Amino acid sequence: MVPSRATVSPLPHARWWRAGVVQAVAPPGVVDLEPGYLEPGLLPVSEVLPLYAEALSEFGPAALTYGANAGAEPLRVLLGERHGCAPDEVLVTAGTSQALALLCGVLGEPGRHVVVERTSYDLGRRIMADHGLRVLEADADGEGVRPDALERALAGTGAGRVAFVYLTPTFHNPTGTVAGEQRRRDLLAVAARHGVPIVEDDAYAELCLDRVALPPPLAALAERRGVIRLGSFAKTLGPGLRLGWLEAEPEVVRALAARGQLVSGGALNHLTSLAVAMLLGDGRYDLRLSWLRAQLRLRRDTLMAALRAGLGESVTVDRPTGGFFTWLTFDPRRDEGALVAAARDAGVAVAPGSRFGGAGGTHLRLAYSLNPPDRLAEGAARLAAAWRNEESPR
Ligand SMILES: Cc1ncc(COP(=O)(O)O)c(C=O)c1O
Repeated sequence: MVPSRATVSPLPHARWWRAGVVQAVAPPGVVDLEPGYLEPGLLPVSEVLPLYAEALSEFGPAALTYGANAGAEPLRVLLGERHGCAPDEVLVTAGTSQALALLCGVLGEPGRHVVVERTSYDLGRRIMADHGLRVLEADADGEGVRPDALERALAGTGAGRVAFVYLTPTFHNPTGTVAGEQRRRDLLAVAARHGVPIVEDDAYAELCLDRVALPPPLAALAERRGVIRLGSFAKTLGPGLRLGWLEAEPEVVRALAARGQLVSGGALNHLTSLAVAMLLGDGRYDLRLSWLRAQLRLRRDTLMAALRAGLGESVTVDRPTGGFFTWLTFDPRRDEGALVAAARDAGVAVAPGSRFGGAGGTHLRLAYSLNPPDRLAEGAARLAAAWRNEESPR
């Protein structure tokens, strides 16, 4: 059965997709390839609509009171079954951003360091910086952070001065890379030797678009010892749900659940967590995932084909096996700011590579998640024309 999409079309609601309601909205006519959003038509309005009624019918007043501090048991049980851990190894969060903020508060004190991949999720770094943590960049290759670079960063910083290592080994934002199993084991060994926890941001893990076998998460390889894995429904259902979870050792979950915010307010997003439990419990979530992967695959393939046709050999367009983004590598003599400006003048918004750290070179990140295929093809054609006309190498 294909998820019903007929009941609530996004079109009658188009007037609400505007600044003041939605976080970031491109001006009319712009093909927005910048944010890691799902396109309005990919957001499961019809599927989510009945879930709140189902959760309220099933749980009654228990859905409207303060929830258990670690999150409602029905969702923790389902997440545990899905991800191979026990319910007491799961804490329900309000999404990865909130989980990261919680962890920064617990693991870090101002002035301590977090080791990140040289090119990595800009807003994750922002959350770390908000907590007074210093971001230390480690070199990477096509599989993410290199173990020797992690070793150097941890040894050079000194015991006790690194709060945690932050990694996105699966469908990395922005590069789309996936670390192989041996790389994962090597990184785990380095962090364990230094006694530093790893925070594994797995926001895109369920969005594999090709028939490839993914290596197990770091958390699974380490049986969660020394690893805290962050999951989110933001990329698979919708970020407006503000719902995610983390997997960690039971004592870590207990310590996090004992934080004042959770003791005071109970589970974050309690009713939504019960609503999503209805979706997870009877297979509807898996149907949704299959459908969404097919939609994203079509968008990725459309954008890649149009970019390659338009740009030829002059730009390397990475083909990610999952997630939302493709990473473009230009001749390093080309100016990133000029490429972004040329794109903007042609009516296309793109993300500059330098936003994600100091990798060097000239890169841009393009999201294929926010537009239907015809708009992606249009965006790629505009980019190819704009960059052809843009000043050639200095
Ligand atoms: C790597 C990564 N982590 C976390 C997030 C944010 O997750 P959430 O919406 O669950 O806070 C994003 C969204 O762009 C992301 O790309």
